[in-house]
Amino acid sequence: MEKLVIEGGVPLQGTIQVSGSKNAALPILFSSILLDNPVTFHNVPRLRDIHTTNKMLQVLGCPAAFTDDSGHSILVEPGRLEPEAPYELVKTMRASVLVLGPLLARLGQAKVALPGGCAIGARPVEQHTKALEKMGAELELESGYVVGRCKKLRGADITFDFPTVGGTEHLIMAAVLAEGRTTLRSCAREPEVVDLANFLNACGAKISGQGTDVITIDGVTGLRGSEYSVMPDRIEAGTFLAAAAITGGECEIEGCPIEELTAVMAKMGEMGVTLEPHENGVAVRRNGRLRGADMMTRPYPGFPTDMQAQLMALMTLAEGSSTVEETIFENRFMHVPELMRMGADIKLSGSRAVIRGVRKLTGAPVMASDLRASASLVIAGLAAKGETHVQRIYHLDRGYEHIEHKLERAGARIRRMKDTE
Ligand code: EPZ
Repeated sequence: MEKLVIEGGVPLQGTIQVSGSKNAALPILFSSILLDNPVTFHNVPRLRDIHTTNKMLQVLGCPAAFTDDSGHSILVEPGRLEPEAPYELVKTMRASVLVLGPLLARLGQAKVALPGGCAIGARPVEQHTKALEKMGAELELESGYVVGRCKKLRGADITFDFPTVGGTEHLIMAAVLAEGRTTLRSCAREPEVVDLANFLNACGAKISGQGTDVITIDGVTGLRGSEYSVMPDRIEAGTFLAAAAITGGECEIEGCPIEELTAVMAKMGEMGVTLEPHENGVAVRRNGRLRGADMMTRPYPGFPTDMQAQLMALMTLAEGSSTVEETIFENRFMHVPELMRMGADIKLSGSRAVIRGVRKLTGAPVMASDLRASASLVIAGLAAKGETHVQRIYHLDRGYEHIEHKLERAGARIRRMKDTE
């Protein structure tokens, strides 16, 4: 296993480039199962989860691979589809469950391992399966696999119990080739849902309302893809905004999406971070000490849960006290004990954390536990006095492309090493 070794205290300077969005690329890649012909995706980040997705598509009969060793384009060539998504792959990336709907839409059958939970929560998928059943799918749970059959999915009027991102994406993919009209209500409004819908519309789908809480899909008989560029990663961008802010540096976050980060930028502004958006991205700097703030994670356009851990790292050094209310996941404070080992003063009670700002953090060996918790530890390490060893960074590699190279180019003293070194 590998770790990142960070010597803190260096204000970041210069330009940091944002990669394509992991959480847009995953459903978009899986949606190529719905296509009749090859399709090329651009601006796809080179991440573990993307490689896992390519492997899953391969197993399902849709060979997918980066077109060269260093680029960010993936060619997918839909072929004779296989109905089974094996547990060995699904257990490493729970988003794989999204193939269930597309396989039912194309084959009328599917056998997809039910994803387990993960570090941040149980992550059930009953919103997905209940909605698919409303569209005529017969689903049975057999030895940990969802086995599904249907003659042809038919349009339905579906209301989610709450705005589920994956559930909304899954049902859009199930509905685009279904018989008749599907109306989805209480939908997630995340930009990644919009990117998926825009891609499918570019292939001939008839989707409207994406980005609002009611999405309408009129089924069509076939979809033809050609090329599509994935949107930039707003969470990676927000992570770099936090890294620049905590180090007191002055950076240009190039390709930083602005409209999709308003809640994050507003909260950072409240904490005393100066953010100047312009056509190429966002300039970020900080004058004076960070100020404490209160934050609650909410479905989009509220403050994104995927930025909660990163903002909390900022709060550990902010004057006064801050509060964080995590309303989306039941166990998304795994970064807290590790931040406390670096000297942070945080009190947890249920879904609420109270953070009292301290004057400094001290470098320490810390353990990554999930993707965004790892990012939080890197951010804290960049500001801490002394050396921080962030271990088990395979979590980080799921969602950040060469994070140490990007930070090093901005002046950070950071390097990747074997855990044993
Ligand atoms: C997506 O997960 C993202 N993942 C997550 O990002 C993100 O945190 C989450 O949306 C919320 O924004 C991808 O896009 C690949 P949900 P998803 O369905 O689709 C519960 C990251 O760090 N729920 O909106 O799984 C669920 O357990 C990852 O990049 C049910 O109870 O999120 C969670 O508590 C982490 N039943 C809440 O709802 C269901 O059927 C939100 O889940 C579905 C979800």
